[in-house]
Amino acid sequence: MNIRRLAGLGWFRLAVVTALLAPVHPAAGSPPVLGKCVGCHGADGHAHGNMAFPVIAGTPPAHIEEAIYAYKDGARQCRIVPLMCETAKGLSDEEVAEVAEYYGTQERLPSKEDYDEELAVRGEEIHGQLCSRCHVPPDDPEAAHAFGFPLHGQRSMYLRYAIESYLDGTRENLLPPMAEKLELLEEGDVEALVNYYASYGTSDPPGSPAAASPSEDER
Ligand code: HEC
Ligand code: HEC
Repeated sequence: MNIRRLAGLGWFRLAVVTALLAPVHPAAGSPPVLGKCVGCHGADGHAHGNMAFPVIAGTPPAHIEEAIYAYKDGARQCRIVPLMCETAKGLSDEEVAEVAEYYGTQERLPSKEDYDEELAVRGEEIHGQLCSRCHVPPDDPEAAHAFGFPLHGQRSMYLRYAIESYLDGTRENLLPPMAEKLELLEEGDVEALVNYYASYGTSDPPGSPAAASPSEDER
């Protein structure tokens, strides 16, 4: 069964416009190229206050480079914020390496977003079945070698937008095996996954005694 489409992305656009109005400056001593990023991603890579923008702190440097080169050569499209793709096009290889190293070595903090325990428990199961082969948490020793980007602690709004973009074809899927897994998602599964990724780093992660335990026949 295929997933139901989310109802438009107007809310994402609105969040983007609001965020672009706030000027931010890089910290002294950081690489100058950071000046092209901090307005949107923040100096620590958490895009504080910009709920629509991805967290890039703790994304392994190799994955950050991979994403920037994909934006640069058009393999990844900037559906709503063209300025991200424009910025990527203007970066030298040296700047890409510097900025990837900088953001990749910032610690990824818990998102502090609200999440639903029950959904998070279901999301953890779905993640284990379909996604964990390629997507591991940012603090996993294998994170740099995993195929996919760490999704744990990523912004819910951005996750919904990215998954939706792969599903409706507005973001090209660069790895056919991931497309196959996304096609297996059923209605409600995206929300369960998003709630699970939002629980990263919280004191009561799903599966802990404080959280409801998943029953065998749940799926
Ligand atoms: C105008 C705001 C803006 C600016 C400036 C900007 N970004 Fe982005 N960035 C975004 C948005 C929005 C996305 C998601 C775009 C999409 O895929 O549609 C993104 C995506 C990314 C991603 C991919 C994240 C992921 O999880 O896949 C990386 C890496 C990144 N940006 C790094 C940078 C760096 C480094 C700079 C500075 C050289 C920069 N960005 C400048 C808004 C911005
Ligand atoms: C076979 C490996 C593989 C599997 C399995 C996989 N992915 Fe991915 N995923 C990737 C790769 C590689 C990328 C980066 C592709 C790109 O640049 O667009 C990615 C990117 C993503 C992104 C965008 C991340 C970002 O920061 O922009 C999301 C969201 C995502 N995957 C969700 C999922 C979910 C949910 C599942 C399970 C239902 C899943 N993936 C299964 C390999 C995989």
